[in-house]
Amino acid sequence: MTQYQTIAASDAVTRTGAIKLYGPEGFAGMRRAGRLAAEILDALGAHMVPGVTTEEIDRIVYDMTIAGGAVPATLGYRGYTHSSCISVNHVVCHGIPGAKTLKDGDIVNVDVTPLLDGWHGDSNRTYLCGTVPLKAKRLVEVTYECLMRGIAVAKPGARLGDIGHAIQTHAEGHRYGVVRDFCGHGVGRLFHDAPEVVHVGRPGTGPELKPGMIFTIEPMINIGRPDVKVLDDGWTAVTRDRSLSAQFEHSIGITDDGAEIFTGSLNGTEIPHLPR
Ligand code: MF3
Ligand code: CO
Ligand code: CO
Repeated sequence: MTQYQTIAASDAVTRTGAIKLYGPEGFAGMRRAGRLAAEILDALGAHMVPGVTTEEIDRIVYDMTIAGGAVPATLGYRGYTHSSCISVNHVVCHGIPGAKTLKDGDIVNVDVTPLLDGWHGDSNRTYLCGTVPLKAKRLVEVTYECLMRGIAVAKPGARLGDIGHAIQTHAEGHRYGVVRDFCGHGVGRLFHDAPEVVHVGRPGTGPELKPGMIFTIEPMINIGRPDVKVLDDGWTAVTRDRSLSAQFEHSIGITDDGAEIFTGSLNGTEIPHLPR
């Protein structure tokens, strides 16, 4: 049985396994943390040019996070030592920023999580660097559509399986593979909490969505097979078949009649404009 737990403003926050139902103060906190995440991601678009190193991008994330009164939740998280994850081309997620330079035609995911006044604004986008081949642009576009289709079915009474189903049918309709090894998650005062938000599923299955739930949806979609492997650095996840992989992530809250996106772009640059 799925357990739910109503969270008062003063409650100590620990991982209990239950799905937390937050009140207005939780939504207010997530709005502020989510807005900062969006501002950071909005600013990064201009830096996605050939020759820039991923550690330079990570530095911008650090500086903007601190300037916004937050700390990067990934710094020191399970031994991770950077302010963002930057995943290029066939890297699925958890790419480690470093001396690697971006090149023309790369697709580049940046995942940020400012921790602001105790709330985690977790979001990521995939950017296009320079002139990107149509095949890769289509992957990025469809992956964004997968996220938004998942959010579109998120409302009270729906189930987590409905979200997974919406994502899976759209991705597989384009003959893409949906990554199973990583999923969305409850978020809020904890970075990673119950429930697991799987990006595949059957309609009408899984925990029911209730007002006050706060979680991420963050589909990772591959041009090829869904299978991934983690490199020897212990973090970098890549597609086993080396096919390109894209991802988008929002933190959302279930309202009385739908879902509120906490991490939406403030300047309309969330989806790279793709000539069709
Ligand atoms: N931001 C990632 C997520 O969406 C988690 C990154 S954890 C790290 O859940 F340690 F790899 F940074
Ligand atoms: Co996340
Ligand atoms: Co994230």
